[in-house]
Amino acid sequence: MQNGLIVYSSKYGSAKKYAEWLSEDTGYACRDISEVRAADIKGMLIFCGAIYASGISGLPRLKKLISAHEGKAAVLCVGASPFDAEAFEKLKERNMSGKLTDIPVFYARGAWDESKMSFTDRTMCKLLIKSLQKQDPNTYEPWMKALAEAAGKKCDWTDRKYLTPLLDALGKQAE
Ligand SMILES: Cc1cc2nc3c(=O)[nH]c(=O)nc-3n(C[C@H](O)[C@H](O)[C@H](O)COP(=O)(O)O)c2cc1C
Repeated sequence: MQNGLIVYSSKYGSAKKYAEWLSEDTGYACRDISEVRAADIKGMLIFCGAIYASGISGLPRLKKLISAHEGKAAVLCVGASPFDAEAFEKLKERNMSGKLTDIPVFYARGAWDESKMSFTDRTMCKLLIKSLQKQDPNTYEPWMKALAEAAGKKCDWTDRKYLTPLLDALGKQAE
C-alpha cells in the first residue's frame, strides 16, 4: 500500500479504536483530526468519524483538509445503529456534500454507554429514547429499534470485521 494517514473524530472512543485498528492493519500513522494540518497529509487519507444525531462529527475540518489534499480519501463512519442500506444512503446524502461527494464511505458499528456520555449528550439521548417509547415498536426504523434496546445498557458492537470492506478497497487501490 502507498503512504497514508488515518485521522479520527471521536468523543467516546469507538471511532478512535477503529482508527487505531486501521493503523495496525495499514501501517499508516493515526491522529486526532484536530491536531492535523493539510501539510501533514501525504497519500491516502482515511477519516474515522462518529455519528451524533445523524451527523458525522469532524466533517467541517475534513472538508478543509480535503481542499488542500490532492490524494485519495475514504471515510469510515461509526454509529450505534446496525447497518441499514436505506439509512446509510440518507446519512451519505446529508453529510457528504460539496468536496466530499465523491469520497467512498464505509460503516462500522460503535458502542453505547450512557454513563460515559456528557450531561448534554445523555439528556439528548434520554429524550430521544422517551419519545421512542411513546411510538408503536412495529413502526420503528432499524436505528430506533437498536436505540430502544440499548437504552440504559452498556453495549459494545465494535468489531474488526467492519473494516474488511474498507481494507479491501484500499488493497484494490494499491494494485
Ligand atoms: C448525542 C448522541 C447522538 C447519537 N446519534 C446517533 C445517530 O444518529 N445514529 C447512530 O447510529 N448512533 C448515534 N449515536 C451513537 C454513537 O454514534 C455511538 O455511541 C458511537 O460509538 C460514538 O462514537 P465515539 O465512541 O467515537 O464517540 C449517538 C450518540 C450520542 C452520544
